[in-house]
Amino acid sequence: MDKLIIEGSRPLRGEVKISGAKNSCLPILAATLLTDDKCVIKNVPALGDVSTMLNILRSLGVDTAMQGDTITVTPTSSRNTVASYELVSTMRASVCVLGPLVAKMKKAEVSFPGGCVIGPRPIDLHLKGIKALGAKLEVKEGYIVASADKGLRGSHVYLGGHFGSSVLATANTMMAAVLARGKTIIENAACEPEVVDLANFLKKMGAKIDGIATHRLEITGVKKLKGVTYSVIPDRIETGTFIIAAGLTKGDITLKCTSSDHLNCVIDKLRESGLYIKTLKNSMRVKYKKPLKPMDITTLPYPGFPTDLQAQMTSLMSVNKGISVITEKIYPERFIHISELNRMGADIKLEGPTAIVRGVKHLSGARVMASDLRASAALILAGLVAKGRTEISRIYHLDRGYEEIEKKLNLLGAKIYRERE
Ligand code: EPZ
Repeated sequence: MDKLIIEGSRPLRGEVKISGAKNSCLPILAATLLTDDKCVIKNVPALGDVSTMLNILRSLGVDTAMQGDTITVTPTSSRNTVASYELVSTMRASVCVLGPLVAKMKKAEVSFPGGCVIGPRPIDLHLKGIKALGAKLEVKEGYIVASADKGLRGSHVYLGGHFGSSVLATANTMMAAVLARGKTIIENAACEPEVVDLANFLKKMGAKIDGIATHRLEITGVKKLKGVTYSVIPDRIETGTFIIAAGLTKGDITLKCTSSDHLNCVIDKLRESGLYIKTLKNSMRVKYKKPLKPMDITTLPYPGFPTDLQAQMTSLMSVNKGISVITEKIYPERFIHISELNRMGADIKLEGPTAIVRGVKHLSGARVMASDLRASAALILAGLVAKGRTEISRIYHLDRGYEEIEKKLNLLGAKIYRERE
């Protein structure tokens, strides 16, 4: 296993190109199962999770080819409907093949998914959505076995829980509904930009979806969808991670090939705190000009502050003067990074789902362990600003979700490299 070594205390300066959104392209790749035609997906990042999704697609009988950031998906005549434990258990988003398989093939056997260790991650809403469309569902030996011999039929489904809406349950139900007979209404749909991206992809394929980017989707099923070429949106979480990196290291970074459209809440919070952020059409400049003020943040469904930037923001707060507070409303247990940040000299206390962060003068390099994808990013950020050397072990999560992060950071002036443990 590899570990990352960071020699800290270097401001980041220069330009960085943001990759396509991981959480858009995973469901979009799954949605290619809905057609018999070839699809070409552009702006796809080279990531572990993308490789996993391509392996799943191949196991389901479609050919895939990746050239640069473009993936071509071509269905073969031997389609399969079983998504195995070996593939699905490594990544939560694999469950997204359930909706397309039942809709197109009228049956599916999909292993229960795995994913990052960020607290309980049930799939009851995915099952509720698919069941509402008329599929029969059973759980057998760790697999969800779904069938709809006569095809799915439109329905009215409320996809809600105590936390708000679910991103991937909305994606799964929407993908199932586009080929169902009649009209489906999804209430309490998630409207995260990645769900919108998927809906736009499905529309381009010929799906009839109204209410995109709202909490009520109205979908009129069609008989067939066609193959299309589609480019995924920039990754808002990678963008946010680099914005925070600029603030944390007292740097000056221009982010290219991205957009501020999906990050208004994050940008607003950071500007209020004193960070200079100038947004242009496809780029933004982030410059540290003065010490940042403490912040009070709560993670919420979009357009609220994203849970996927909570850990990185905590790293920034840990060196801001004063007391900052960050409350996690999506995954109340997503705080494993805190003990690791404290090991680096941070002063963070957890009270239920709230982290109280007393800013310290500086962090110091230490040996720490990454627990999940965004926690890995948070530890890298802390390492970039810490005095001395930080060693981060268990970094395999990182390769699942950040494309060439060391290369991008080194180009900005960081000193970060891999060693074998
Ligand atoms: C997506 O996960 C993202 N993953 C996550 O990003 C992200 O943290 C999350 O949305 C929230 O924004 C992908 O898109 C691949 P949810 P998802 O269903 O869809 C509860 C990253 O680091 N819930 O919106 O699985 C759940 O426990 C990853 O890139 C149920 O109770 O998240 C949570 O409290 C990590 N029942 C809340 O909903 C269900 O059936 C929101 O989860 C489904 C979810």
